[in-house]
Amino acid sequence: MGFATNGSADKPLKFLIYGRTGWIGGLLGKLCDAQGIEFAYGTGRLEDRTSLESDIAAVRPTHIFNAAGVTGRPNVDWCESHKVETIRTNVVGTLTLADVCREKGLILINYATGCIFEYNKEHPLGSGIGFKEEDSANFIGSFYSKTKAMVEDLLKNYENVCTLRVRMPISSDLSNPRNFITKITRYEKVVDIPNSMTILDELLPISIDMAKRNLTGIYNFTNPGVVSHNEILEMYKEYMDPKFTWKNFTLEEQAKVIIAPRSNNELDTTKLKQEFPDLLPIKESLIKYVFKPNQKTSSA
Ligand SMILES: NC(=O)c1ccc[n+]([C@@H]2O[C@H](COP(=O)([O-])OP(=O)(O)OC[C@H]3O[C@@H](n4cnc5c(N)ncnc54)[C@H](OP(=O)(O)O)[C@@H]3O)[C@@H](O)[C@H]2O)c1
Repeated sequence: MGFATNGSADKPLKFLIYGRTGWIGGLLGKLCDAQGIEFAYGTGRLEDRTSLESDIAAVRPTHIFNAAGVTGRPNVDWCESHKVETIRTNVVGTLTLADVCREKGLILINYATGCIFEYNKEHPLGSGIGFKEEDSANFIGSFYSKTKAMVEDLLKNYENVCTLRVRMPISSDLSNPRNFITKITRYEKVVDIPNSMTILDELLPISIDMAKRNLTGIYNFTNPGVVSHNEILEMYKEYMDPKFTWKNFTLEEQAKVIIAPRSNNELDTTKLKQEFPDLLPIKESLIKYVFKPNQKTSSA
């Protein structure tokens, strides 16, 4: 049982990607180049149906990737004071793109978020019991998460959509201020909570394979297991800067310096691992894809 897609096995792949100027969209284009996959970036705005139809007519893609969305600058607190702009792209835009893709018989690989869950008594911190794909959002504490949760729920009705729940993305480019490692090394104080996270260097190629396999439905799109802020900073100290120090603070103290609450959770990766058995546990992936390639000294 699957979506009757236009991206049939005998047709050469051609991707249409939204999010050319973004972090994930930019990385995706580089990966397609490296893999020799033909692709074009969309020029339309997600909320403008006609512009999406023109892109599809011009590019004639086999698959569409959506790495466009608003996340807020400098962070998601922006969405609290720009609700209509957030709705326009993340709700109206994402749903319009999914709808157009369905009408054209195209699979949409949608980079969504796993920041729609928070630890609760059925999924307590440290228990190893993660939220599953079929679980409904239980965190709508920020407007960003609220819109993303609503859209995920609505997209369940679109059999052409593959929803990837990305969390706290990390890449080997430690100069990128969006990188979770870069963020926490620059904060004055950090909380210390285990979370599921996405190592983009390992997982973005997997999302391309998911398109090749025409997978649809929801996937927790993180590495297996959890890692805490302090565990990452310990690794940073070991591999990158032996003199590195940091200060922790509590969730209550953090609440005073941010506007909207943040999500902390563990996602269950059984479904993704069944499809990609070589997927590395988060700490191994961090070392292989991020810290070893960036290591400056010959020790460790
Ligand atoms: N980074 C994270 O922490 C994180 C975590 C989990 C999930 N995600 C999700 O992954 C997706 C990509 O994230 P990212 O970090 O790569 O974001 P990003 O660097 O902020 O890039 C966002 C991209 O979306 C485009 N865009 C925004 N509104 C648009 C619209 N209405 N129509 C067309 N394009 C539009 C932007 O283009 P313009 O510059 O032209 O507006 C930009 O290319 C987002 O949906 C985000 O929610 C991100």
